[in-house]
Amino acid sequence: MKRTEVIVLAAGKGTRMHSDAPKVLQTLGGLSLIDHVLGSVRALQPSRIHVVYGYGGGAVKDVTEGDDLNWVEQTEQLGTGHAVSQAIPFVDQDSDVLVVYGDVPLVGADTMNRLIGASKSRCLALLTAVLPDPVGYGRVVRSSDGNVAEIVEEVDATDEQKAICEINVGFLSSPAKLLSDWLRRIDDVNSQREHYLTDIVGLVVADGGCVVACRTADAVEAVGVNSVAELADAERAFQNRQAYLLMDNGLTLRDPNRFDLRGSLTFGPGAAIDVNTIIEGRVQLGSRVTIGPNCYVRDCTIGDDTVVEANCVLDGATIGLSCMIGPFARLRPQTELGDGTRVGNFVEIKKSRIGSGTKANHLAYLGDAEVGSNVNIGAGVITCNYDGTYKHKTTIENDAFIGSDTQLIAPVTIGRGATIGAGSTIRRDAPPEKLTLTTEETKTLGRWRPSKKSETE
Ligand code: UD1
Ligand code: CA
Repeated sequence: MKRTEVIVLAAGKGTRMHSDAPKVLQTLGGLSLIDHVLGSVRALQPSRIHVVYGYGGGAVKDVTEGDDLNWVEQTEQLGTGHAVSQAIPFVDQDSDVLVVYGDVPLVGADTMNRLIGASKSRCLALLTAVLPDPVGYGRVVRSSDGNVAEIVEEVDATDEQKAICEINVGFLSSPAKLLSDWLRRIDDVNSQREHYLTDIVGLVVADGGCVVACRTADAVEAVGVNSVAELADAERAFQNRQAYLLMDNGLTLRDPNRFDLRGSLTFGPGAAIDVNTIIEGRVQLGSRVTIGPNCYVRDCTIGDDTVVEANCVLDGATIGLSCMIGPFARLRPQTELGDGTRVGNFVEIKKSRIGSGTKANHLAYLGDAEVGSNVNIGAGVITCNYDGTYKHKTTIENDAFIGSDTQLIAPVTIGRGATIGAGSTIRRDAPPEKLTLTTEETKTLGRWRPSKKSETE
């Protein structure tokens, strides 16, 4: 089989996005548009990938990873045909070429493969789709015998052509040699004064050459992103596709239309996610884990049978088995919770290890702490870990009881089984098994009277 080289077009500004960033860097499901395209392209294992960049200088090149990419600069954005021409000198003339657009993110590798196959190393193969609302796309005009005659851009189309629902997805495949010849012959005589790649279709037809239209049955694949609204529509379509795939694999989603995954999610049997939860980065849910509504979970591992109640923000945490988290808990990076821990409402934990069976049920802050197992953290307990310059560690040993409204001024250690009286400010280590507290006399002042409002007020 001939070698295949891929040209990715990513030089455009994307004026309709109203953003200074190049359009292909907009994100869909947490990944840039161009990374989506490159993901599918790489799955084809082509011999080379050329990326045409231009608007925004090196911005696309700088943030897109890939030692496998040949970057080709298009200094002026003179159209898609011009963009492909910039890459042609780098392409082996004996190869087949697949051209893809960086702003059409959802075409899968299988479809790309089908397109390459359809060109059979001699034809021009185009990817098309039939859309109920084709506005904005190039239309595939067919002659009376049903063969493709040309592609007409929306802005250049007659009313009759605008009524055509078969659109040009933008991806095409052909032998490099033929593509190079056709590109030399296109001009910019159109309403946008651009060199349209799509004009090669009419040229091939006029030459009596072979044009094959390869239609995708999945309209979502055809989605091109040109405006803020189209990006939002593409996001929903992408999320919906992910959600159904996860449900097919056994994840319970209360409502696939109110679920967002911006990264990767693995889960065990019986895992369930309630509505409006956002999963970001790499998240692993054990068996029977349930996530309540309105949670944000990023880069976390959550053990079997753990329950996360509503409105939690979990970021960079490793959570053990059978824990109870929330509602309204916040776990920050490098939090490790042992099995059976309980973290209740308005509890924030950062960079701390919490032993199994420990409870912090309400209103607490634990930062830079090493907390043993079966510890009770009362309401309003604060590890005062920051002196304004440095962070200090708090150690709380197994079975300790920290009374409510206690400040633990780090560095400090609370010994095994120690009890700290409520309302204490602990500035030095508390010995094991003893009651430690700071006392302040409680007074009642007999001659005190409540102030009264004067008559003139
Ligand atoms: C293009 C197609 C249209 C198709 C649609 C599918 C042309 C002339 N039209 O229209 O038939 O239905 O895509 O989404 O090709 N680019 C460059 N350099 C340039 C111009 C564009 O690299 O000089 C890149 C853009 O970054 C983008 C892609 O090419 O990734 C497509 O360009 P865009 O301007 O979005 O074309 P459309 O008007 O959407
Ligand atoms: Ca486009």
